[in-house]
Amino acid sequence: MVTGASGGLGTATALELHRRGARLVLTARRRHLLDELAARTGAEVVVADLADHDDVERLCGLATEMDVLVLNAGTGAEGDVTTLTPEVVDFVIDVNLRSPIVMTSAFARHKVAAGAEGQVVLVGSLSGLVATPRTEMYNATKFGLRGFALSARQDLEHTKVGITLVAPGFIRDAGMFADNDVTLPPGVRTKSPQDVADGVVRAIRNNPAEVFVSPTELRVAATLGTVAPGLSERLQRRMDTKKMASGG
Ligand SMILES: NC(=O)c1ccc[n+]([C@@H]2O[C@H](COP(=O)([O-])OP(=O)(O)OC[C@H]3O[C@@H](n4cnc5c(N)ncnc54)[C@H](OP(=O)(O)O)[C@@H]3O)[C@@H](O)[C@H]2O)c1
Repeated sequence: MVTGASGGLGTATALELHRRGARLVLTARRRHLLDELAARTGAEVVVADLADHDDVERLCGLATEMDVLVLNAGTGAEGDVTTLTPEVVDFVIDVNLRSPIVMTSAFARHKVAAGAEGQVVLVGSLSGLVATPRTEMYNATKFGLRGFALSARQDLEHTKVGITLVAPGFIRDAGMFADNDVTLPPGVRTKSPQDVADGVVRAIRNNPAEVFVSPTELRVAATLGTVAPGLSERLQRRMDTKKMASGG
């Protein structure tokens, strides 16, 4: 099952998994995009809104029948801490954090009880390591998803169920960052949707804790953000990252 299959990275991932012989269940809200992808892949389509708890419950029921969950759906949320509304807070948490946690938990419970194999791939972001201005809800949920993934995979250590966090940096050509038409500071490189799809395949194959899909320099900068957030803030001020929209 691939969530967010109608989006840039979900589509690339679904196509790669299909190419490798997977039988797919694709889910998102926009049926026409899912139907187009299903026509190319023979996938089953399930329309669901991850901000709707009943829809998530329905997906949990289906998830237990899967071998692999790629929980890739996500939403950006540009704004400012002074303008956040409870509705936006709930929406971003529901889509980016609650739904992958609830689905992973249902999947793991079922597989462990059955003694069966399974793999969960959670699509996070380098925004789960380093914070940028005007992306607090995106940062909050991606930091949270990373914490969940790295803890939950330890719970499952002696089972046949794995959990991997795939953390892309800036992805060109398709997806939320490409759609936002943002100009990156000179020297900041991007990766492709296919690189993310390949990262998901590596996650399914080897169950590593994390797969970074970003150039080394960006990963180093993100890691610096985790150990020295004050320094990261000053560097970002110099690079004027406030001008950059969210997405990625
Ligand atoms: N693109 C990047 O540079 C980048 C970098 C780092 C991390 N990421 C992460 O990669 C993942 C995929 O992002 P993307 O770049 O492919 O973005 P995208 O093109 O905007 O796709 C987002 C996907 O999430 C789905 N989605 C959003 N809200 C939903 C909801 N309420 N219910 C169900 N599905 C919902 C969308 O489907 P519908 O609108 O059809 O419902 C769409 O399929 C996200 O988790 C994102 O945070 C992306």
